[in-house]
Amino acid sequence: MTEPLTTGNDGVSSGHEVCVVGAGYVGLTAAACLAHLGHRVTCVEANPHRLQVLKDGGIPIHEPGLSELVGQGVVNGRLHWAPDVASGLGTARIVLLCVGTPPRADGEPDLSQIAEAGRQVARAATSDLVVVVKSTVPPGSCEAIELICAEDALPGVTIRVASSPEFLRESRAVEDFLYPDRVVVGAEDPDVIDLVASLYPPASPVVRCDRRGAELVKYAANTFLAIKISFANEVAQLCDALGTNAMNVLEGVGSDSRIGPQFLRPGPGYGGSCLPKDVSGFVALGESAGTRTALACAAEEQNALARRSVARRLEMVIGSLKGKRIGLLGLAFKDGTDDVRDSPSIQIAEDLITSGAEVRAYDPLAPSGSTPNGVERVPLAREALEEADAVVIAVDSAEYGDLDPDEVARLMSGDVIFDAAGVCNLESWGSAGLSVYGVGRGTPMAFYPVVWPPLRWTRTTEISLG
Ligand SMILES: NC(=O)c1ccc[n+]([C@@H]2O[C@H](COP(=O)([O-])OP(=O)(O)OC[C@H]3O[C@@H](n4cnc5c(N)ncnc54)[C@H](O)[C@@H]3O)[C@@H](O)[C@H]2O)c1
Repeated sequence: MTEPLTTGNDGVSSGHEVCVVGAGYVGLTAAACLAHLGHRVTCVEANPHRLQVLKDGGIPIHEPGLSELVGQGVVNGRLHWAPDVASGLGTARIVLLCVGTPPRADGEPDLSQIAEAGRQVARAATSDLVVVVKSTVPPGSCEAIELICAEDALPGVTIRVASSPEFLRESRAVEDFLYPDRVVVGAEDPDVIDLVASLYPPASPVVRCDRRGAELVKYAANTFLAIKISFANEVAQLCDALGTNAMNVLEGVGSDSRIGPQFLRPGPGYGGSCLPKDVSGFVALGESAGTRTALACAAEEQNALARRSVARRLEMVIGSLKGKRIGLLGLAFKDGTDDVRDSPSIQIAEDLITSGAEVRAYDPLAPSGSTPNGVERVPLAREALEEADAVVIAVDSAEYGDLDPDEVARLMSGDVIFDAAGVCNLESWGSAGLSVYGVGRGTPMAFYPVVWPPLRWTRTTEISLG
C-alpha cells in the first residue's frame, strides 16, 4: 500500500453514516476503508463465525493492510459490527450491499442473497434511504431490487437503489479501494450519483451513468480481462508448438501502448470468484438479450483448455502419472490470497489425482478445508518437494520462484518442474540439473518441422520428451 490517504475528515462531522451489508472481501474492505475516509460505518455480517472473528479483533480473510485498517476503525469508534440489518441499520441513510452473487449451474448469477438483503433493508428502514449495490449483478438488477424494496418498505419510506460496482483485486483490495482507477456510479437521479460519489476518496475519477450501464461496466471489464488472459494463453500454445518463448513474444505485443502488458501473461488459466463467474454471467446476459457473445465464449473455451492441459502436458513429459509422486505448489487462485474459489490449481490437483498420481500440496494461505480429496496437504514447501517425481508450480508466487534450485534438485527424486505459473528462472533452475517446462516457455512439447514455403507449418504427431 502506498502512503495513507489524508481525508481532512474529523471522522465525526463530515462523513456519512453508512451501513455495509456483508463482510467478505468487498464488504469488509469497503467498511474499513470508508471508516478510514471518515465515515461512520456499521458492517453487518450474517455468518456467525465471520462475525465472531471480527468481534474478537481478527479478520476472517487474508488481505494485506486490511487488518490494520479494521483495527484503526474499531479503536477510533468509526467501525462497528452487527449480526443483521435490523440491528445494524441505525440512522444510516446509505446502505452498501456487498453480499455474494455466486454462479448457478446454468452460468447465471444467483441473486437470492442480494434480493434478501434488499428486503431486510426495506423492512428495517424507518426513513428514506439510498441502497448502493456493490455486488456484481446483471443489468436490470438494481431496478428489480428497488421494486423488491418498495414492496416491503413502510408507507412513506422511499428507497432508491444505485449501482456502484466494485473493481478491487484480492490481495490488493485496500490499495484498490483507496486509490481506484475510477469509481463507477449508476443512477437516474444526478443527486443520487453525487451522494454515492461523495463516499469515495475525494480525488477518485467518477464515471457517471445510468444503472444498467454501471452494472454492465463490471461484466464488460472482467470479460475483457479474461479475454486478454486467454489470448496470452493462446499465443503461449502457439509458442510451445513453434518452440519459441511466449514471454518474449508477449512482451513484444504488450509493449505497444495501445495494448499494454497487464494480464498478458500465460499461465494455468484465470480463476477466482470473479472472472469465471462474470464471464459466464456476460455470456448468459448475451443469451437473454439475444446477442451472441462470441469473444466471451471463446475465452471460456480457451480457459478450460489452459486448466486441463497442465496434467496432460506433464504426462507427456514424464509418462503415465499412475503412482508418481507430484509436488504441487499453490492451491489459491493467485498469489497473495487465501481464496480458492474456482482456482485453476484445484482443477490441476483433481486432474493429477484422477490420473493416479500421489499429490502433496503446499500453500501458505489457503484454508486447510479447501484441500481437494485425495491430496495430502503439507505445511512446508520442502515437504511437497521431497521425493517428488515432478513438481507443478500452479500459483505465481515469488516464494516458489525464489526457492533454491539446488536444494529443490536435492530434495526431489525426479528432475521435472512444470512451472505453469511462469515464476522460475529457466537458466538457474536448468543449471541445477532440473528440466523446467511451462506454459509458453520455449520448451517445445511437440515437434513441428518447418517446410517450404516457410509460412506453412506441418503438424506431425506429438512426441513425448520423457
Ligand atoms: N472478491 C472480489 O475480489 C470481488 C471484487 C469485485 C466484486 N466482487 C463482487 O462483490 C460481491 C461480494 O464478493 P465477496 O468476494 O466479498 O463475497 P464473500 O462471499 O466473500 O462475502 C459476502 C458476505 O456477505 C455475507 N452476507 C450474505 N448475505 C448477508 C446478509 N443478508 N446480511 C449480512 N451478511 C450477509 C456472507 O455471509 C459473506 O460473508 C460479489 O457479487 C462479487 O462478485 C468481488
